[in-house]
Amino acid sequence: MAAVVAVHSYAGGAGKSHLTANVATLLALDGLRVAVVDLDIPAPGLHLLFAIADADMGYCLKDYLMGECEIEDTVREVGAGLGLAAGGALFVVPSSMDGERILDLQQRGYDIALLGAAIRRLVDRFALDVVVLDTHAGTNDESMAAFAVADTVAVVLRPDLQHTRGSQLTVSLARQMGVPRIVMVLNLVAAGVDLAALRARTEEQYRCEVVAVLPDCQEMTALGSGGVFVLLHPSHRLTRCYRDVASRLRG
Ligand SMILES: Nc1ncnc2c1ncn2[C@@H]1O[C@H](COP(=O)(O)OP(=O)(O)OP(=O)(O)O)[C@@H](O)[C@H]1O
Ligand SMILES: [Mg+2]
Repeated sequence: MAAVVAVHSYAGGAGKSHLTANVATLLALDGLRVAVVDLDIPAPGLHLLFAIADADMGYCLKDYLMGECEIEDTVREVGAGLGLAAGGALFVVPSSMDGERILDLQQRGYDIALLGAAIRRLVDRFALDVVVLDTHAGTNDESMAAFAVADTVAVVLRPDLQHTRGSQLTVSLARQMGVPRIVMVLNLVAAGVDLAALRARTEEQYRCEVVAVLPDCQEMTALGSGGVFVLLHPSHRLTRCYRDVASRLRG
């Protein structure tokens, strides 16, 4: 059975999209069949990390939600040339950055049940081991649909009051929805912070396991969303942290 992981944060800019792209890539490198889905419909961007050009976007999640294609038509395979272990595969379901289409979908609305149906169909059709859902920050329909279908919700937060306070709401919603496993990922942690104390405090505050504490890295800032970090910096400390997350989420 595939593991479905929803990556969420209460406040924006927590590092969800980078976590999604990097963890999915590491799992595919290990030989798993992995798909990432950009559920951040109002502000998509996951495809940029995988260098999918605007011209190559083709059908996107919105086209499926508007009934204009099948979910299979939106899938891009991006694992070629990455040196995946035998059996590994990496797929992306992008959302388009076409502003008119985003507004059109938001105004017309769509059947939210289509999202869960799409994920189940992707798992079957592509024989997936893992699906990672990148969500929009805060409480919104797509994120709640992701929680409904996920085995695990990974709550990403920065050491910042908006994130720490808001994550209580995220964790509480996930609990109310009966998500089987809720874990926390602390990101953008400054040098010099006592990591063990931060982890213990966070676990006590949310009564959830902290699966990793990720440092604030200049090399990531310099990358500027122009690629998948772990491929460019395989021996970096941040890559080791992403590996810790991947090993805890693989199901
Ligand atoms: N560990 C890190 N060190 C330094 N910069 C980071 C780190 N993680 C993420 N970033 C940077 O933080 C910014 C936000 O990251 P990302 O886009 O993954 O967040 P997000 O939660 O998906 O944001 P949004 O809510 O807008 O979708 C990006 O510029 C990214 O390069
Ligand atoms: Mg994002």
